[in-house]
Amino acid sequence: MISRGERLRVFTGTAHPKLAHDICAHMGQPLGAASLQRFPDGEINLKIECDVRGADVFVVQPTCPPVHENLFELLSYADCLRRASADRITAVIPYYGYARKDRKDEGRVPINAKLVANLLVAAGYNRVVAIDLHAAQIQGFFDIPVDHLYARQVMIERVRQLGASSPIVVSPDVGGVKLARAYAKDLNCDLAIIDKRRISGEVTQIEHVIGEVKDRDVVLVDDMVSTGGSIVDAARIVKQKGANKVFIVATHAVLSGKAVEKLNSADVEKILFADTIPMPAAKIDKLEVVSIAQLLARAIDRIHRSESVSRLFEN
Ligand code: R5P
Repeated sequence: MISRGERLRVFTGTAHPKLAHDICAHMGQPLGAASLQRFPDGEINLKIECDVRGADVFVVQPTCPPVHENLFELLSYADCLRRASADRITAVIPYYGYARKDRKDEGRVPINAKLVANLLVAAGYNRVVAIDLHAAQIQGFFDIPVDHLYARQVMIERVRQLGASSPIVVSPDVGGVKLARAYAKDLNCDLAIIDKRRISGEVTQIEHVIGEVKDRDVVLVDDMVSTGGSIVDAARIVKQKGANKVFIVATHAVLSGKAVEKLNSADVEKILFADTIPMPAAKIDKLEVVSIAQLLARAIDRIHRSESVSRLFEN
């Protein structure tokens, strides 16, 4: 007879072990023992060091940079666990890389968000837990269950404590309106939208601000900050339009290129990021990290017990 502790196993790749440890601490559960090393040529050398036969297994791994290293570790885990006779294998992907490549927006380009989904299923995953997917329809790329969690549930408490006066939530682009609207609804305040045009992966151009931000405290909300171009330009434009204080609230701190420098140069009061991705070593002034570990712990616990995950989001 195996105990609950042995029946439920949580493992981590090398992308974000602290998050996995924090999740396990909330669950009162030891992290599954595994050795994850590299062969001299860089290939992954994974070995599960505990019994997983018949177990309900969760592998925590955001596919943040280095994207392909982290993705392959996640794939390798599924292959390993399937061959070791785990009963059910769930990929817990707090940040789903390649999510922005979710459609053919021009000819002769791949849909890499779908390719990643295909790879995860082919490797052996039976279900997925994700947080703030860039586009909710990515769930449909999987023919296995996907539990899509919202960091807002945790972030909103901290946003309320920021003390924004006459707040208005601003989405830095049209694609982010759904997320921004949800924050505006929670804060019971107005919503404005920035009409942003993407020129390239690094360059964006702001066309208009739709809505009145003058004399308001602005809460800029986005699902991710990558190069920082969108959010920092958005902060500048709302200031130019007469906003008072500006707060940045984003789930995934991808922080590529010169993002840290850009954030440090932005005229903002506070930057709130969730810990779906580890923070960079370089210091970000005004940064505060909000942990989603407990949210993930509760979701894992509910999935394990076959209880409703939606209930986590009911007030
Ligand atoms: C865009 O659709 C996303 O929601 C983010 O606004 C964008 O990906 C952030 O990228 P960057 O920080 O490079 O402007």
